[in-house]
Amino acid sequence: MQEKFYLTTAIDYVNGAPHIGHAYEKILSDVIIRHKRQLTDKAYMLTGTDEHGVKIQKTAAAKGITPKELCDENFSKFEQAWKELEISYDQIIRTTDEKHKKVVKQIFKKLLENGDIYKHSYTGLYCAGCESFLNPKDLTEDGLCPDHLKKPEEITEENYFFRLSKYKEKIAEYIKSNPDFIQPSIRVNEILNQLENIEDISVSRTKESVQWGIGVPDDITQTIYVWIDALSNYITAIGYDIENPSEQFNELWPANVHVIGKDIIKFHSIYWSAILMSLGLPLAKSIYAHGWITIDQSKMSKSIGNVIAPHDVLEAFNLEKPDAFRYYMASAALTGKDGNYSDDDFKEKVNADLANNIGNLLNRTLNMLVKYFDGEIKPEFVTDKNSKIAVLAQNTKTQIIECFNKFEVAEAANIIVSFADSVNKYVTDNAPWTLAKEEKMQECGSVLYNVLEAMRHIAIMLYPYCPNIAQDILTQLNENIDFKYDNLVWGGLKPNKITEKEKIKPVFLRLDSEFATDKKKG
Ligand code: ME8
Ligand code: MG
Repeated sequence: MQEKFYLTTAIDYVNGAPHIGHAYEKILSDVIIRHKRQLTDKAYMLTGTDEHGVKIQKTAAAKGITPKELCDENFSKFEQAWKELEISYDQIIRTTDEKHKKVVKQIFKKLLENGDIYKHSYTGLYCAGCESFLNPKDLTEDGLCPDHLKKPEEITEENYFFRLSKYKEKIAEYIKSNPDFIQPSIRVNEILNQLENIEDISVSRTKESVQWGIGVPDDITQTIYVWIDALSNYITAIGYDIENPSEQFNELWPANVHVIGKDIIKFHSIYWSAILMSLGLPLAKSIYAHGWITIDQSKMSKSIGNVIAPHDVLEAFNLEKPDAFRYYMASAALTGKDGNYSDDDFKEKVNADLANNIGNLLNRTLNMLVKYFDGEIKPEFVTDKNSKIAVLAQNTKTQIIECFNKFEVAEAANIIVSFADSVNKYVTDNAPWTLAKEEKMQECGSVLYNVLEAMRHIAIMLYPYCPNIAQDILTQLNENIDFKYDNLVWGGLKPNKITEKEKIKPVFLRLDSEFATDKKKG
């Protein structure tokens, strides 16, 4: 039986439009899920939007519209952006969905019944940006939230509290005995330290201060805390229900990975774990915390005015397909590290890897096949799995699977590119043009076969990053469009007339090449 793989992303706040930081996470997640689908038919990706809370309430009020109107407006921007970037999620949940709201109430009630929620009067400093109370010792010298650089609001309220402290040891134990739980592992100590100082948390707000949210069951004066609401999406979306969980839920839960940004690990590894423990559900197998994307080395912010939407990049470079942007973002940072976007860097990276390295290799080789063999691979050209390139292809495949098991998405891209480098070097070393001149046609044909068969492998391995380019490569090789990893077996490319002069075209045009510039003018 094939193993299932359930991936979730963070659900984005819809108080604004998506920017390339949001896009980074969804692209990473999409590359991972597309890779998993190459290995199993049971890979499932959930994404969504986080639509409640005081921040959305305030943004809507400032615009003079209702919170729901704001959510609808921005939700469609997220949906559109993900469509443009070809994010192949299986489901997109909105926390304003009725089904979600109903089950969040059930969850809250269950925690109450378990004795894990109690009422308590409290004074604290609330940051709307974080949607969280802050510990005074975590503020900057000027008393600002370190993430949002805004002064938190002092709030005194009677709220419902969740007995987080009760689960402290159990969570620490879980983290220590499951080394794959928090990835990359450099984050583990940070979480264990935070856990030591953890106290019970407020899990509701009064209706006067927060109207926009899910009401506490049987208490019209309180609204459920937005993080309890938001985190629950990972189970409500797939049909969790206290009485009667769906078949899909039983099949998919626990999630294999929650892909999130490094700023929200605490909520996922501590708060969410405690909620799941209270509900008697298993914890996710892993939480993968990616780094942050800056723009030209500065933090993206509305006040600096440097916020870039993914659509802006596609438009500026006149890109009809998202492949180049997906590729660049997915390789922007080694696992867990921060990354940076700059126009120049983008151009340089995709020109080097997609146009020069991979694209040219295919182009030159197909042209030689036409020139020397009328576009035909003859049976005697086919090499066996012990040829140098075949062995390298096999090792590359193994390394990529290992990388993805550790969510090393950029590292896996580097491995594909260095395989293409080796194949380029192989062409230079074996100079098929010289072999042809010396009339060593059998040898020349085998060199070309090795390169084209390597290209077929590259297309399949590149597919999660660049689905359109990958398809184009297979089409030019006259191959079926099937990206399953089962096809990564040497010798898959069969003797055949595969191409002719007119069919050969670049799979990726250099950005700012004459072609691209002409297209821009046209
Ligand atoms: O935190 N670079 O929503 P959000 C990389 N609703 N990632 C970034 C980023 C950047 N510049 N900016 C944001 C929330 N992100 C909550 C999540 S999950 C149950 C609830 C990432 O819209 C961020 O780290 O502020 C997070 O994972 C996601 O985008 C949504 O951020
Ligand atoms: Mg945020």
